[in-house]
Amino acid sequence: MNPPIRDAHKKDIAHALHPYTNLAIHEEQGPLVITRGEGVYVWDDEGNRYLEGLAGLWCVSLGFSEARLAQAAAEQFAALPYSHTFAHRSTEPVIALSEKLIEIAPAPMTRAFFLNSGSEAIDAMIRFTWYYNNGRGLPEKKKIISRKRGYHGVTVAGGSLTAIPLMQNDFDLPLERMIHTDPAGYYRYGLTGESEEDFASRLADNLEQLILKEGPGTVAAFVAEPVMGAGGVMLPPATYFEKIQAVLDKYDVLMVADEVICGFGRTGNMWGSQTYGIRPDMVTCAKQLSSGYLPISALMISDKIYDVLKEQSRKHGAFGMGYTYGGHPVSCAVALETLKIYEERDIVGHVRKVAPHFQRRLTELGSSILVGEARGVGLIGALELVMNKSTGEQYSPETKAGAALSARALARGLIVRALPGDVIGICPPLIITKAQIDELFDSLAHAISETEDQLRRAA
Ligand SMILES: Cc1ncc(COP(=O)(O)O)c(C=O)c1O
Repeated sequence: MNPPIRDAHKKDIAHALHPYTNLAIHEEQGPLVITRGEGVYVWDDEGNRYLEGLAGLWCVSLGFSEARLAQAAAEQFAALPYSHTFAHRSTEPVIALSEKLIEIAPAPMTRAFFLNSGSEAIDAMIRFTWYYNNGRGLPEKKKIISRKRGYHGVTVAGGSLTAIPLMQNDFDLPLERMIHTDPAGYYRYGLTGESEEDFASRLADNLEQLILKEGPGTVAAFVAEPVMGAGGVMLPPATYFEKIQAVLDKYDVLMVADEVICGFGRTGNMWGSQTYGIRPDMVTCAKQLSSGYLPISALMISDKIYDVLKEQSRKHGAFGMGYTYGGHPVSCAVALETLKIYEERDIVGHVRKVAPHFQRRLTELGSSILVGEARGVGLIGALELVMNKSTGEQYSPETKAGAALSARALARGLIVRALPGDVIGICPPLIITKAQIDELFDSLAHAISETEDQLRRAA
């Protein structure tokens, strides 16, 4: 028999350490224990139903009850629950999945390397970059540029590219060699009277100045999410990537597209790189690769990088890195089935069909006094909360306006996420219907007006 619920909560408080959680508050508040899911909904241990407006952590594209994925896992478990890809070994799921990923990649790629998380894919990308430039006889060319408020995971190296203070302060990050340029958020960082195109030109110019200051011979790669997600959902301004790519090309700097959130239909194309005209040399992906059902990520690399890695492995005797669970056959089988379902059900087509309605309902919320900007693309949405709508002035961090709104939404049966800068992130499963989109935004509209009242009373 299960222990009484309160006991389970006490045990969670006593034993589980929760990431991205205020540990002291958790001791008083306890966990929200999710016990089951169906379609776009999940239920907690008291039987309350929630519309999962963040698809878990931007990953559960096919919803919480896709039987075909469970079946694919069961079949692979029965056939071969584990094997690896070290030292020339392979498995059928690895072969089929790498072929499929290379076929659908957003730019010509030649090899896929499998890992278990977005963070590991970023970490591997860094190692590949250094190995690549050493192989080219450019041992000084090692710095990697990311953008402030970019999110690229939490390994020591990848966490150095995640340029968000909360995630670096007192962790002794960033490491040297990791440098940061401007975030691409026009609403918050554009100057008065500056057009989006002019903003993009200024950012490209700043990037060029940074490369010149550091020394082009020391800068190896630039990594960017097509849409900046966890740092506050910022969409690139018009002409941004075109101008950034021109600077990178000029100084022989690799372009890395971090597609961990945007990959697999989220923005209305298979890849965010296609939505925004990015021409990557390497691509990281994870999350929707398996609809979040099992941990898996991939790093895809283009010919020019692969050729150097091959020479390096000849020189050293082998390509000297790998993960025990990289290319786990069960994760690969589930990812392969996920990609099959995307194709068979035309999931990208579905996103294109419902996204205009999603974006229309999102934009309507922009008229609230609390919302400085409503922005989004495909099935990504964000509301940036402000204290003063006309100046864009933000609430003090102590007000916790974003957290207040997400708590109100939760009480109404809707899960959304408060991100840095009081930005509410919305990113439902890709299978969401028009009626469920209405349910999501109706709940959110109520939660916003309750939060407005709450903040007004507190002022
Ligand atoms: C763009 C991006 N890169 C990397 C990561 C890290 O992925 P993981 O949490 O699987 O390590 C995330 C996670 O949200 C992400 O959004």
